[in-house]
Amino acid sequence: MSSCTPKILLNQVAIAFGKRLVVQDISLSLHEHDLLCIVGSSGCGKTTLLRAVAGLIPLRCGHILLDGVAITSPNPQMAMIFQHFGLFPWKTVRGNIEYGLSVQGRRDRDGTVMRLLKVMGLSEYAQCYPYELSGGMQQRVGIARALAVQPEVLLLDEPFSAVDAITREMLQDQLVQLWEDPQHCKTTAILVTHDLDEAILLGDRIVVLCGTPGRVCLEVDVPIPRPRTPQDIRFHPAYPQLRRHLWEALHGSHVEHQVRNYN
Ligand SMILES: Nc1ncnc2c1ncn2[C@@H]1O[C@H](COP(=O)(O)OP(=O)(O)OP(=O)(O)O)[C@@H](O)[C@H]1O
Ligand SMILES: [Mg+2]
Repeated sequence: MSSCTPKILLNQVAIAFGKRLVVQDISLSLHEHDLLCIVGSSGCGKTTLLRAVAGLIPLRCGHILLDGVAITSPNPQMAMIFQHFGLFPWKTVRGNIEYGLSVQGRRDRDGTVMRLLKVMGLSEYAQCYPYELSGGMQQRVGIARALAVQPEVLLLDEPFSAVDAITREMLQDQLVQLWEDPQHCKTTAILVTHDLDEAILLGDRIVVLCGTPGRVCLEVDVPIPRPRTPQDIRFHPAYPQLRRHLWEALHGSHVEHQVRNYN
């Protein structure tokens, strides 16, 4: 792989269920350690697109490449975090986080599990089962489980939508810290969200999907330097215009594909 080969490339992707086209003409590229946020109205195909990147759904047209190689089936280098946690109810917090490492037959499991329990504030709950945890704690276990295997690609489908606003801010902050941790400097991520401020806080780039079938109607680079906090983004001079463009694309009845640059 050459250094300019994108980590993930989507080229003219279309996905259909039976005769119904769900997304069409999607072309995107991500380089290593890019964090791309996808926003779009309900039903425009965000989860479908993410599942296709994970190799879980076949494409009707186009292709999706990982390091220049077509993704045709689930790949152990990718981890997906679902909206509704997807924890194993019969395993403890520790067992859930450890799961991917034991599948990989890794011997150095203890250190990784301890580090993630600590980072995620779950050390005291290692022996608890998911039903004994709050929604935010379950989501943290989901994130820790996905990160434990140090995936090259992390796919997050509305990871914080099922928790309250305060927990969401805390989880966003933890994700930002993890993202900046050198341990994860090679991870590339796609995060689906309904929340524009979350996309601006977390994303290097934001893509808005609109219409039926869903297409890219706006693509922007976030011009706010990292590290970012919710306060940094709200007081940054580019924030009002960036947010307004995203909002208009999200709510507009018809917007042509645009690429905007705020630098
Ligand atoms: N397995 C499936 N079989 C048939 N249709 C499906 C399947 N999965 C999704 N769809 C349809 O594809 C369309 C897009 O669904 P998808 O879940 O990707 O939307 P979304 O953008 O993630 O929505 P939301 O924001 O509500 O999560 C919907 O009309 C949905 O009914
Ligand atoms: Mg969805």
